[in-house]
Amino acid sequence: MAMENFRQFLVALSATVLFGVVSIIFVLVWVLQYREGLAWDGAAGEFNWHPLLMVAGFIFIQGIAIIVYRLPFTWQCSKLLMKFIHAGLHLVSFILAVISVVAVFDFHNGAKIPNMYSLHSWLGLTAVALYCLQLVLGVGIYLIPITPVYWRAAFMPLHIYSGLFLFTSVVAVALMGITEKLIFGLNNPKYKDLPPEAIFVNVLGLLLVIFGALILWIATRPSWKRPSEQVLHTLHTDGGGEDNTKVGPSLSQLTEGADSETTGDVRKRLNKLDGAD
Ligand code: HEM
Ligand code: HEM
Repeated sequence: MAMENFRQFLVALSATVLFGVVSIIFVLVWVLQYREGLAWDGAAGEFNWHPLLMVAGFIFIQGIAIIVYRLPFTWQCSKLLMKFIHAGLHLVSFILAVISVVAVFDFHNGAKIPNMYSLHSWLGLTAVALYCLQLVLGVGIYLIPITPVYWRAAFMPLHIYSGLFLFTSVVAVALMGITEKLIFGLNNPKYKDLPPEAIFVNVLGLLLVIFGALILWIATRPSWKRPSEQVLHTLHTDGGGEDNTKVGPSLSQLTEGADSETTGDVRKRLNKLDGAD
């Protein structure tokens, strides 16, 4: 199925993947070249898993999970399969975030550094907890088949808002963490003397902001939204026949008295049933 402004979508998607991958490479170079490398020994090498897993898992994978429904080459896949992919990627992102938090707690306990004293840690742990809630509610409402269709549609605007809000918060929390680490970690020359490590990691912060902005852009373009199952079904079967296995009014009911209505119009109307399929 054709997507409106497909070229712009491809440009936005390529830029998103590029900025995301380069951000992960930047964290790797930071911890391996400028810092103590990676290890699981209660020392600095263990702390370094924290930024790496947060950027690769909680930011990059979460971002991709959010836009996965928007990829036009997945539109021929069933909605159920896409739900499993969306939920599965969010689950992976959550697991990596938990391991990342364990790494920093373990490091703090080993080095006798207090836990949970900073705003970064308060907001960060809250984001991880709310993300878990979003995941459980998402599975309960959209994957378990007994949830009424009415609930699914009613909950969707909240699901989308809280998902985008959490994603944005996680990027902001990462920026706070990066700044803290530069202030703690750079001594002689200090952060204020702007050594090469500071410039490099400031650029990492910029890359994360651009990645976040691109994900939000893609996820909020109405014309790039995955069409409703009913529109896809109608186009695949090349007709407006009723399909009693689908939820909501049939296409023929929706288009009654509007023979000249275009597919775009039908799609707009059906999208009002957001989350019902
Ligand atoms: C500590 C969460 C990203 C640097 C913490 C703690 C949490 C947390 C919950 C508290 C651990 C404790 O008290 O023992 C998050 C979340 C992130 C994130 C949700 C999401 C992206 C980052 C990044 C860095 C970073 C990218 C960059 C190096 C730190 C530092 C600490 C810390 C230096 C120890 C000081 C403190 O407790 O504030 N983080 N973090 N964090 N994080 Fe992050
Ligand atoms: C859509 C976030 C977990 C089902 C969305 C959207 C966001 C989002 C931002 C809007 C995407 C768009 O408009 O293209 C999240 C977050 C989750 C999560 C942050 C985990 C923490 C889940 C789970 C399910 C689920 C576990 C269960 C299947 C859906 C569905 C849509 C959706 C059905 C509508 C897609 C569409 O009709 O185009 N989610 N989600 N989500 N999500 Fe989630």
